[in-house]
Amino acid sequence: MFVVLLGPPGAGKGTQAQRIAEATRLLHISTGDMFRENVKNETELGKLAKTFMDRGELVPDEVTIKMLLERIGRPDASAGVMFDGFPRNVVQAQALDDALAAGGNRIDRALLISVPDEELIARLGGRWICRDCGRLYHERNDPPKVAGKCDHCGGELYQREDDRPEVVRTRLEKQKPPAALIDHYRAAGSLREIDGQRSLDAVTASLLEAIR
Ligand code: AP5
Repeated sequence: MFVVLLGPPGAGKGTQAQRIAEATRLLHISTGDMFRENVKNETELGKLAKTFMDRGELVPDEVTIKMLLERIGRPDASAGVMFDGFPRNVVQAQALDDALAAGGNRIDRALLISVPDEELIARLGGRWICRDCGRLYHERNDPPKVAGKCDHCGGELYQREDDRPEVVRTRLEKQKPPAALIDHYRAAGSLREIDGQRSLDAVTASLLEAIR
């Protein structure tokens, strides 16, 4: 099964993708995590991506699609994937459709998580992430047992550079899923809309129901 998670920055795509990957056999692929890994390792791709990420803008399609296609070409992606943060527009969606079709597959579900702007700002401002395992926390909504430490691996928690208020403003202006992308999946019959302004468990339950 191939599933895409759509939603504005802070909607809960990463958090829910981690939970769904644990509950299913889907491989979690996050283009945001892939870019951050490249930034951390100071690769050429990372240096390029950082110039866009720091401004709250999307990395150019050409670069992003190439990275994603290389990733889904690996054997561990053949049985099923949960895409988090990809696609962001119709060009990326079409590239993904074409690549899956070449292997006789397609996107089975596109899950759109909706959350109002005021809530997104509060979520991004309070987000903490484990430096070692990538587990996501929120200082108010989903805090770690010990402040600054990951419950799962004991790693140090950090806040993302692009969660600064001025960058968040640009991300919310420029990175909400465009209507044409939503229509792309609605026309294919795979779109399901999920109310993301509920508890983490309630959202997970709705997403799993939409997949099963
Ligand atoms: P990316 O990492 O994908 O960022 P994003 O889309 O802005 O999404 P976020 O990761 O910020 O939010 P999320 O929806 O995953 O929410 P989360 O689960 O963390 O991309 C980063 C950058 O990389 C982009 O800006 C762009 O430059 C580049 N990029 C990536 N993909 C690209 C692409 N395809 N094309 C071009 N460029 C690309 O949750 C947020 C917080 O809320 C957490 O603290 C969490 O604990 C909390 N929370 C979650 N759900 C709930 C809930 N139900 N109730 C209460 N709190 C909740």
